[in-house]
Amino acid sequence: RREFANIPPGPKPWPVVGNFGGFLVPAFIRRRFGQQSEDSRDKNPLVSLTELANVYGNVYSLFVGSQLVVVLNGYEVVRDALSNHRKVFSDRPDVPTINIMTKRKGIVFAPYGPVWTVQRTFCHTKLRNVGLGKLSLEPCIQQGLAIIKTELLRLNEESGGSGVDLAPLISNSVSNVICSLILGQRFHHEDHEFRTIVDLMARGLEICVSSPAVLINIFPQLYHLPYGVFKELRQVERDITVFLKRIIAMHQETLDPEKPRDLTDMYLIEILSQEADGKKDSSFTEDYLFYIIGDLFIAGTDTTANSVLWILLYMVLHPDIQDKVQTEIDEVLGPHRAPSYTDKGSLRFTEATIMEVQRLTTVVPLAIPHMASATAEFRGYTIPKGTVVLPNLWSVHRDPTVWDDPDSFNPTRFLDSEGKLLRKECFIPFGIGHRKCMGEQLAKMELFLTVTSLLQAFKFRLPEGTPPPPLHGRFGLTLAPFPYTVCVSLRR
Ligand code: HEM
Repeated sequence: RREFANIPPGPKPWPVVGNFGGFLVPAFIRRRFGQQSEDSRDKNPLVSLTELANVYGNVYSLFVGSQLVVVLNGYEVVRDALSNHRKVFSDRPDVPTINIMTKRKGIVFAPYGPVWTVQRTFCHTKLRNVGLGKLSLEPCIQQGLAIIKTELLRLNEESGGSGVDLAPLISNSVSNVICSLILGQRFHHEDHEFRTIVDLMARGLEICVSSPAVLINIFPQLYHLPYGVFKELRQVERDITVFLKRIIAMHQETLDPEKPRDLTDMYLIEILSQEADGKKDSSFTEDYLFYIIGDLFIAGTDTTANSVLWILLYMVLHPDIQDKVQTEIDEVLGPHRAPSYTDKGSLRFTEATIMEVQRLTTVVPLAIPHMASATAEFRGYTIPKGTVVLPNLWSVHRDPTVWDDPDSFNPTRFLDSEGKLLRKECFIPFGIGHRKCMGEQLAKMELFLTVTSLLQAFKFRLPEGTPPPPLHGRFGLTLAPFPYTVCVSLRR
């Protein structure tokens, strides 16, 4: 098939399951028979995917079942595809498990076209002023940080030196930021409503991307099986629907068009305004809002939480860099003034450190799958319409043609000789092109405020005698660090 169609070269696929048979089947067997995979701690599929480029070139192909997938590697190729050929490579594939949750509406998995454009433009415009405008989320982030600090101290004392797992604290805080954005309020981390939405979204995503339910993508009939994870998937889908519909109904009942409380209110006002203008075929509908709310939860929580967890992990593994960041924070903020996003320009080493961890870890390593919306000629190959295109952002961040010593941790690579921040085009943790992350500004604000605030207050270290977790992380839709615990001590 490859030779006839001039599609990019690649390894020979297995029958039926394609190239992913090689790791899907052993992973499933390990899980089924309960062997907690020691070897999965040593193997990083991103290294394997990137190494395939040494054999087949920076544009190569794989098959998932019978679906052709083209993997783009290295800065030059990824930039060429997503910038110069962005019109043809900005669509999203039709993935059965994802369609169950999104129905191809909302923003993240919506097809590239006029509806996606107006919906994204509306939400992006509202999100852009999260730092200052009507939707300012800085106070909400600060409030979450105050809670994390108190809880962290308490748990640290209770742990008697064995350390605290930061993941639930950070995850609650980040989820609460999305709740403030969409629901106009923060919740206590044990609040029933809060737990319901956070747990449902996380479980839905987990089932769709890393459970045997992914087999639905090859055998769609499995969706209807009356047991196991397939049954659970249908239940989670129903529960999310009930929950989100109730949220929208509550907003409608209490809506004051003069005083929007959150993004949901702003969207409902837009629906009313388009109705008043007589726009009968407007895409601004309650139905669409439903999927946008789901999207923001999924796209805005795990990504940010894992980025914070990675940064704090690198800080315990590199105490010298932690010291330097803290010295800078002390010089700029002193011991008591809480950081504000406007301090970003003055805390350059801190910012460079955040960027360097983001580079090395690339939390959304393969972006979100793209799709060719038409047959395209790209770098000497034919990419047929409907091909899934994976921009390997992880490979861009390890590309030796654009980074010196790419595997080393060196925040100063983002600073010039006068200590000013360097903007590097090859640094793309949020992607590039039309499908670039819509929450980039919010995410940057959360990372900056969380990291500066926690490092201003605490010294972080690994518990005595605890080996560091492997640094390549756990690969799902996002790249998460392996679980770890930390001990903290108050800096004052
Ligand atoms: C898409 C990264 C946080 C909303 C993406 C993509 C990446 C990314 C790589 C895919 C780009 C592509 O497909 O080419 C990140 C990282 C984050 C983060 C690293 C945190 C550090 C957020 C937050 C929100 C958000 C906080 C929302 C509040 C979205 C949306 C899309 C997206 C809606 C889909 C855009 C589209 O398809 O048009 N993000 N993201 N992200 N992100 Fe983020």
